[in-house]
Amino acid sequence: MTDLTPSIVRFLATLRRRIEAEPGHGPDFLRERDALLSVWPSDDARRGTPATPVRLPACAHFPGALAAALDGPEREIAAALAAIEPALAWVYGYPADPRRPGLADAIAFSDIVGGRGLLRAGAIGIGLTLIAPETAYPSLAHPAVEFYLVLSGTALWTAGAAPEAPRPPGSLILHPESLPHAMTTGSEPLLAVFTWHGDIASPSVYLD
Ligand SMILES: [Fe+2]
Repeated sequence: MTDLTPSIVRFLATLRRRIEAEPGHGPDFLRERDALLSVWPSDDARRGTPATPVRLPACAHFPGALAAALDGPEREIAAALAAIEPALAWVYGYPADPRRPGLADAIAFSDIVGGRGLLRAGAIGIGLTLIAPETAYPSLAHPAVEFYLVLSGTALWTAGAAPEAPRPPGSLILHPESLPHAMTTGSEPLLAVFTWHGDIASPSVYLD
């Protein structure tokens, strides 16, 4: 089996540099960024037991989303990601709900650090979110503090009381602890990196 360690180290280092370089945010953002970076995995973080790679129906959109990311502002992270994605196990993660037909086929997540990911690093989760075109990811919340970095696709984003707004590739978005948020894609899939810190053990739940 290919040793993914150099690719994971490169991915994490590139992502960390990108988050550190983000300009122009307020004190809440800066405080949570410091908290995230304080628990960032070291290069020798414990390797997880690699899960068997899993693909879901939404993953049909991954090649196109990755190609767009490789041509976008986060191309360096996308290039690092391309090497490790074949090893990832994608999941939907929410209970089946007849009120939301098709959602489990349109949304997929994969852990890179934490959960079923490739590294175990204690107090941080890092993974990918992939959402098919023309999909509403319902309003949800979780106790973990979350950052999202959009790699490709421009979704309409709702977070807390802020008005819905398009978030293009290159956007770095903070979801504070338990803040409701939702995304709706248009004609393009959304591919984004998420990070979790704080209470990473409690799940994300839909709010309606
Ligand atoms: Fe979230």
